[in-house]
Amino acid sequence: MSGSPRANPYRDTWAGTIDAGRAGDAVRVAGWVHRRRDHGGLIFIDLRDRSGLVQLVFHPDTSGEAFAAAERLRSEHVISVAGEVVRREPGNVNPNLPTGEVEIRVAAMDVLAESDTPPFPIDEDTPVDETLRLRHRALDLRRQGMRDAMVLRHRVVQTMREVLDEAGFLEMETPILTRSTPEGARDFLVPSRLQPGSWYALPQSPQLFKQLLMVAGYERYYQIARCFRDEDLRADRQPEFTQLDVEMSFVEEDDVIETMERVMSRVFEVGGVAVPPAPWRRMGYDEAMLRFGSDRPDTRFGLEIVDISDALRGSEFKVFESVLAEGGVVRAINAGVRDLSRSELEGLNEVVQRHGGKAVAWAFAEDGGWRSPIAKFFSAEQIDAASRALGAAPGDLILFVADRPQVAAEALGGLRLELGRRFGLVDEGTHDVLWVVDFPMFAYDEETGRYDALHHPFTAPVGSFEGVGGPASLRSRAYDLVVDGWELGGGSIRIHTPEVQQQVFQAIGLGEEEAQARFGFLLDALRFGAPPHGGIAMGLDRIVALLAGYDSIRDVIAFPKTASGSDPLTGAPAPVDARQLRELGLRSVVERS
Ligand code: AMO
Ligand code: AMP
Repeated sequence: MSGSPRANPYRDTWAGTIDAGRAGDAVRVAGWVHRRRDHGGLIFIDLRDRSGLVQLVFHPDTSGEAFAAAERLRSEHVISVAGEVVRREPGNVNPNLPTGEVEIRVAAMDVLAESDTPPFPIDEDTPVDETLRLRHRALDLRRQGMRDAMVLRHRVVQTMREVLDEAGFLEMETPILTRSTPEGARDFLVPSRLQPGSWYALPQSPQLFKQLLMVAGYERYYQIARCFRDEDLRADRQPEFTQLDVEMSFVEEDDVIETMERVMSRVFEVGGVAVPPAPWRRMGYDEAMLRFGSDRPDTRFGLEIVDISDALRGSEFKVFESVLAEGGVVRAINAGVRDLSRSELEGLNEVVQRHGGKAVAWAFAEDGGWRSPIAKFFSAEQIDAASRALGAAPGDLILFVADRPQVAAEALGGLRLELGRRFGLVDEGTHDVLWVVDFPMFAYDEETGRYDALHHPFTAPVGSFEGVGGPASLRSRAYDLVVDGWELGGGSIRIHTPEVQQQVFQAIGLGEEEAQARFGFLLDALRFGAPPHGGIAMGLDRIVALLAGYDSIRDVIAFPKTASGSDPLTGAPAPVDARQLRELGLRSVVERS
């Protein structure tokens, strides 16, 4: 922390900033009892404030009443002390602490508050049950790891603001009480008291508002925006999370991408994470799906997927042949020389099934053939062609999945990540950054028999509807930023004419009336001279987690929710009383036990 606090009866100095240059000074510091040691008649206390630690020494002869009081100090009591900064004996210098050359010889102390025994240690970052941490978040946030994460988060946001301000962006706010936005997750709803039976939706993103700001001529907008999505939670998903949300007018893909590269390069620098210099490479969606089985490929290790449909076509293996006959594919990973037992190989079926596949077949490459239960179904030429495509050498383990292209891709993509983890193939010290581009405009949903917008329905298509063979073959002007297999952000060039917007609504089965009811305000605005525009949103929580080296974004959010969407700290979500419901014109049909 820079500067000094205003001197008052509590303190005149940040504890963590006192160095040898202050030796001889009289200082007053305030904070928490971090740790206490008794030593040969002296009492040592590490005092902690937000800036760090400083060692206090209480001497029975010179500290007077403070010494007696120090004997009763416990961890996390809050104190204010006055004393003199003295150099430590050379043998007692702690090189790991910025204040490690000095200590404060205490002359007087005020105990400002006492603390019960904390439910877990504050002075070390030992693993603690997460629910316990969340229930006592005020204590958890005192721990070094959380404090570092919160400081980093602040620095990241600050950097974003700096870079965007320099580039002429305006920070603007958009409503939290609004109508459903189009990101495709479930909405959180808020009942209206003034209009019983009507509901606000919390925004899944500021998407429509930022587009309206472009129509309004604001040209360059950003916001550190809270978004709300009622979806199944994972380590990288929270029901409320934060985006750096950006929108620009009169731009194409490269303008948005270049702006975000400038922001993110500085963010990586501030986070102390070395990444390849921008411009970052771009990979087409098809290539990402084919080679890595994911639209957010982790490119830090190999085990790439290879399509060997043509090599194996026309075999005696019914399973593969029937898949191929129906337009499916056979794809495989060369997992390298791996000593997996039969049961471990069997276990891979479960991995593949978790990612939507049916099963996985295996073979070990040998001189002149495969050792595998399915080897007998293939000719020597087929085995040779497949092995060559996979670059397989004797001893290599080959893993096959046959299925529809999308399913095979995702199943092998999931298997690839699992194997990468299991075999320790990822060097956690390296990072890779890339843009995924050339997304399909729509994804076909087998269940509903309908097309969905892959990004969101305000994304502009490449070319026109008239020029291509139906929605299935349209590409979109969307782009995602992917780092180490995390989707850190995504955006697109938008539709800026009402005609194309209607076509997209139609393609996703949104009738004119419904489109008008839900998104009429945008359609109307598009009729009054909308500039070509585009933008992007970056997941702030994910960025900070990645920089801090955490797997879970909960570790970089001050007050997150658990995987079940609850908050052990406040007890939210919680029932409300009948009167509140009546006011809102609501009655609960859920029986609570
Ligand atoms: P999208 O839905 O891709 O795009 O979201 C952008 C980024 O937000 C982060 N993110 C999340 N982070 C934590 N928890 C979640 N539940 C969660 N969901 C998304 C991801 C993601 O890349 N309006 C568009 C952006 C645009 O087109 O400009 C949008 O929201 O890092
Ligand atoms: P089955 O005919 O189901 O007994 O399968 C015979 C072999 O083919 C087993 O080794 C399965 O793991 C494998 N297998 C079945 N379905 C697939 C598939 N879709 N992709 C890859 N291998 C498969």
